[in-house]
Amino acid sequence: MPERERDERFHLNLEDIKDYAIFRVDPEGRIASWNAGAERLKGYTAREAIGQPFAMLFTPEDVQAHKPEEELRLAAETGLYEAEGVRMRKGGQRFDAHVILRSLSDQGGVHRGFIKVTQDITGRKSIEAELQERAEFEQQLIGIVSHDLRTPLAAITLATALLQRDSSLSPRHAATVARILTSAERAQRLIASLLDFTQARVGGGFVLQYAPLELHGFVELAVEDIRLLYPERELHLEHEGEGQGEWDPDRLAQLLTNLLNNALTHGLREAPVRVRVQGEADSVVLAIHNQGKPIPAAAVPHLFTPMRRGDGAHRTGQPGSIGLGLYIVQQIALAHGGTISVDSSQERGTTFTARLPRHPPPAR
Ligand SMILES: Nc1ncnc2c1ncn2[C@@H]1O[C@H](COP(=O)(O)OP(=O)(O)O)[C@@H](O)[C@H]1O
Ligand SMILES: [Mg+2]
Repeated sequence: MPERERDERFHLNLEDIKDYAIFRVDPEGRIASWNAGAERLKGYTAREAIGQPFAMLFTPEDVQAHKPEEELRLAAETGLYEAEGVRMRKGGQRFDAHVILRSLSDQGGVHRGFIKVTQDITGRKSIEAELQERAEFEQQLIGIVSHDLRTPLAAITLATALLQRDSSLSPRHAATVARILTSAERAQRLIASLLDFTQARVGGGFVLQYAPLELHGFVELAVEDIRLLYPERELHLEHEGEGQGEWDPDRLAQLLTNLLNNALTHGLREAPVRVRVQGEADSVVLAIHNQGKPIPAAAVPHLFTPMRRGDGAHRTGQPGSIGLGLYIVQQIALAHGGTISVDSSQERGTTFTARLPRHPPPAR
């Protein structure tokens, strides 16, 4: 087929496409063809556009920054250039565009210019922006409500604790007061998790307060605290290597408590929970192990996602659990420049392993 005829066919097919501007640019950067989509998108007729420098489709800033030449150069060098950016219509109106520029060569390998496809993505951009804005608003709302709920809850807890000391309470009333107190404390824990969640999500992550720590002793204390809450359970602690480093003590205690609570509540009650603190060259590794029904393999990828739990059958139906625990644990590990992983099977049981570098990661 003669080249000219091929060109015409090409032209005919492109003519019908209305949603994309598709046009050729010659090796000197002048517009060489113009389809209906280009006319619609850019506002120039074929007669106005053909022969003009394609730089007229760019914003003046981009022209000044030599973007049009840069695009052609990159497309010529690599064969293909793809980007999102702002482009201009006839009359100066701007729009968000997705552009693809492909360099063309004839059968003899001689460079014959470029074909450019431009799509108006303003609609998509504004939907994305709106979704993002809404998500941020919702997360901020969670943050504000959680924060403001802390004060009345603290008052309830305090008043109830005082009431509990009143020796004139009848046993029935004392039991009621105890229930109020447990519920208020549970609500406080939930609120604290929600606040952590919003801080990690919209607050730009946890801000850590580093302090020198010795993890063997530190973990031992955390385990002692947990023992008080679960006096009937068996907890084993193993130590190895050097435990010195710098971490955020409050956050680390939170990580440990979450993992220990999980092991104790989701694991087999009859079997011990094992905690291992292992000093390695540059980091200290904490492993918390329990026996029991494994976490289904399908649930593992979502385990650290907020508000997602193992699975229905796996739940202990614990009230006051909203599936934020492991998300927060992971955020704490990541904030320290560390990692968290899980291994779970019927034979091996479930082990959560946190690897924590001994020193703060370099500031980003
Ligand atoms: N040690 C564990 N053994 C078995 N399952 C676990 C263990 N830790 C966590 N899980 C599963 O992962 C889920 C998510 O844990 P988490 O984020 O702490 O939320 P929550 O404990 O509030 O349900 C739990 O609901 C449970 O199904
Ligand atoms: Mg939990």
